[in-house]
Amino acid sequence: MLSIIKSIALNGIEGFIIDVQVDVSGGIPCWEIVGLPDVSVKEAKERVKTAIKNSGFEFPSRKIVINLAPATIRKGGSNFDIPIAIAVLKACGKIMSFEYESTLFIGELGLDGAVNGVIGALPMCIEAKKRGFKRIIIPSQNELEAGIVEGIDVIAVKSLSQLIGFLNNQVTIFPSKFDLEDVLKCRNLYNVDFSEVKGQKNVKRAIEVAASGGHNCILIGSPGSGKTMIAKRIPTILPSLTFDESLEVTKIHSIAGNINENMPILVNRPFIAPHHTISQVSLVGGGANPKPGDISLANYGVLFLDELPEFDRNKLETLRGPLEDRKISISRLNYTVTYPCNFMLVASMNPCPCGYYGYGDKCKCSNNAIRRYLSKVSGPILDRIDIQVEVSGVDFECFTSDEIEESSYKIRKRVEKARAIQIERYKNEGIFSNSELTDRLIEKYCIIDGKCQKILELFVKKKGLSGRAYKRILKVARTIADMDCSEEIQEKHILEAMQYRNLDNKY
Ligand SMILES: Nc1ncnc2c1ncn2[C@@H]1O[C@H](COP(=O)(O)OP(=O)(O)OP(=O)(O)O)[C@@H](O)[C@H]1O
Ligand SMILES: [Mg+2]
Ligand SMILES: [Zn+2]
Repeated sequence: MLSIIKSIALNGIEGFIIDVQVDVSGGIPCWEIVGLPDVSVKEAKERVKTAIKNSGFEFPSRKIVINLAPATIRKGGSNFDIPIAIAVLKACGKIMSFEYESTLFIGELGLDGAVNGVIGALPMCIEAKKRGFKRIIIPSQNELEAGIVEGIDVIAVKSLSQLIGFLNNQVTIFPSKFDLEDVLKCRNLYNVDFSEVKGQKNVKRAIEVAASGGHNCILIGSPGSGKTMIAKRIPTILPSLTFDESLEVTKIHSIAGNINENMPILVNRPFIAPHHTISQVSLVGGGANPKPGDISLANYGVLFLDELPEFDRNKLETLRGPLEDRKISISRLNYTVTYPCNFMLVASMNPCPCGYYGYGDKCKCSNNAIRRYLSKVSGPILDRIDIQVEVSGVDFECFTSDEIEESSYKIRKRVEKARAIQIERYKNEGIFSNSELTDRLIEKYCIIDGKCQKILELFVKKKGLSGRAYKRILKVARTIADMDCSEEIQEKHILEAMQYRNLDNKY
């Protein structure tokens, strides 16, 4: 007899509905799985067989053929154990009629019949709801993250026997209910705040400009000047995540297996700071079953590359594409996985190998050594950074003064206002912030008058800047004008934007 159970497979963060078809017939006892399963799915056979036996059911001693359709989609992971087990039992008439058509099944089985958690339960649930399924059966370990999705009954199960009892109407399991209010209370609760950074008015202003336009930025300064401290606080002034953005962020972390009881949904912007020794795969994603890398975990948040010149040039090169496309595709033999990586890049570096160039006469680095140091980052990354900020340490008086520094909350409110202007302006352009302006859009939205044009031309010529740098100045000036609620880009906006090309000025 043939039975069909619905399940789901993930490709990146996208879900695909899979029909688990099982045919049990007479003949020599054997079983086979077809339909592009990977090794972990093939292993389901043994787990399912033993789990069924250990749950008190007889395992059919007949010919069993399992097909995962459509065969064109690759299936990985152990989340097909449950649908396979249920399909086998259904085919043998061990479970009664149930609304199988409108129910999705996912879950791994332990040999004892326990249902174990799976990776990516959140994106699966979101997809199930999108496809109009009435309910989804999930492992109880995934209850918190899956329960976030509204408009679908999430049924969390602990064991195969409990699930069979549920399907046979002998056991009641209420759909998981998740208290969203409770979690949303943690929105914008960070354990750091900009008010802790003393002084540094200019640096804070530059960071606010970067946050307002979503511009990538680099902090350049001597050791101990506060670069890392400031970078860590950037997510706290970015606009609050909307609920949908939160889900997008959480989906990726769900696939990476980062979701736990304390953190079922990410309500704040991620801050991801990979060490310079990080492997390429961990940075951009990959592996046999391609997992998202740090650049995707930083989606909608900040990717912080501390001590940028320490990073291998090759690693930095691989960031070029993702920085432009805001997504990364990882290709395998016969399929491709795409993950979003829409992050704000924040980098830090010292001005020279010893770190003290430009600060008194402490620096003994030769010109050549400095050039070599800078050349490590210049090509691949500097080209994609709109704002360069010089950070000099604060005077001792700053630490002892009782001046109260502005809180992240206050700065964030201004940033949100500037972003709202951009969202409105670009609503038909398919972009959200000034940092995303293409050459064509720069021509359309960054118009400056003759006088500004002259000032900019002179600056670019004197510094020998590239056309790219010129366009970056225009984009940043657009942001500064937006912060000023000015539709027109004025001279003062251009002049301020020019200041954020420190690195070009200096070397
Ligand atoms: N403006 C400031 N206000 C308050 N504390 C500061 C400030 N600047 C630096 N500090 C203090 O100095 C410490 C060192 O700063 P931080 O680690 O951010 O420096 P850095 O520029 O990243 O140095 P390095 O180049 O060595 O990594 C901070 O943890 C903080 O305690
Ligand atoms: Mg540091
Ligand atoms: Zn030096």
